[in-house]
Amino acid sequence: MRASRTAIAPTRWDGPGTPGDLAQSLLRWFSTAARDLPWRRTRNPYGIWVSEIMLQQTQVQTVIPYWNRWMEAFPDVHALAAAPEERVLKLWEGLGYYSRARNLHRAAARIVGSETGRFPDTVDSLLELPGIGRYTAGAVASIAFNRPAPILDGNVIRVLTRLLALKGDPRTRPLQEILWARAQDLVTASEGRGGVRMPWGECLGDCSALNQSLMELGATVCLPKNPRCEACPVRSLCRAAEEGTQERYPETAPRPAPIQKVDAAVVIEQKGTVWVRQRPAGGVNAGFWEFPGLELPDPVDNVRRHVARWLGVPEDRLAPLPPIRHAITRYRIRLESFHTTGIGLPAVVGSTGRWVDRRELEALAFTAAHRRIVRLLPKATLPAA
Ligand code: ADE
Repeated sequence: MRASRTAIAPTRWDGPGTPGDLAQSLLRWFSTAARDLPWRRTRNPYGIWVSEIMLQQTQVQTVIPYWNRWMEAFPDVHALAAAPEERVLKLWEGLGYYSRARNLHRAAARIVGSETGRFPDTVDSLLELPGIGRYTAGAVASIAFNRPAPILDGNVIRVLTRLLALKGDPRTRPLQEILWARAQDLVTASEGRGGVRMPWGECLGDCSALNQSLMELGATVCLPKNPRCEACPVRSLCRAAEEGTQERYPETAPRPAPIQKVDAAVVIEQKGTVWVRQRPAGGVNAGFWEFPGLELPDPVDNVRRHVARWLGVPEDRLAPLPPIRHAITRYRIRLESFHTTGIGLPAVVGSTGRWVDRRELEALAFTAAHRRIVRLLPKATLPAA
């Protein structure tokens, strides 16, 4: 290690290769290694924006069918802006982090109602839209408009901290700013190379391809564990590989331990229908439908007894369904659900909700966990309409 290197990275590029060397190798590699993903075949900024929002916190393979369905339902920003919220939420059902869908919808209305009605094409104008932060603004500006805008997400952080052996926690401000500056160095160095041909024949702009090559390298080669350095196009330009320290980067501080939570839900059936309610505006999962239920203290010894007391019915009126385990941000949730018939609508459940038959139940937008409850209901419940 050179003596001049401090614990926190220098504010200028300091690696075995120059940004130009790296850009050249990355672009050449990407022209053969790029995965053929549906949003890579479009130049439509709207479709690229939708893909970037869906890809936050969500794997590529999960996003593909959602993106295809979405683009068919709402092929342009006008179609999205005009859609009823119910429809937007239904197409997002199961993807999680639902404020993303609501922000897309609000942003579409904002674009359509703007003075020009045109899709924003600069980082600053993109940043004004709800749900668009620095990463997404850079991704859309570079991928859709070939602007030399940097991007920095988990994959790019891993690639850059390794390439330059950048020490420190990348979630802290000083290192964040250094990483943005290094991402800027690379995308700037990619400019003016005449574009890059993709394996499927299409030609991408240099800045678009450079940023996507960083994402691609992080997703397919520069993996968190067991990075595939032997397949890396920039191995000879990587400081961590040179030192054999690649798995030490990034030096992200461990996250706080997850918080355990127990939720209960009840499927109240009556005459071929079940009671569902809509989550209130402004809260978590606003606008989505669910079965009534409650949060329970953890640890809780007998969930069925709690729920029976809450409803004011004998315990044996509640038939347990298999527990569902899911995770939301820092929470690890065990959702216990019960099926019951012939108890009417207990007062505690309230009257804001609806009795729905099987057809409506399928049509409404449910959160992923409550959709799983529907799948657990005994076959005889709610015969198909
Ligand atoms: N992750 C974030 N954006 C992506 C993109 N455009 N392609 C593949 N993976 C991504």
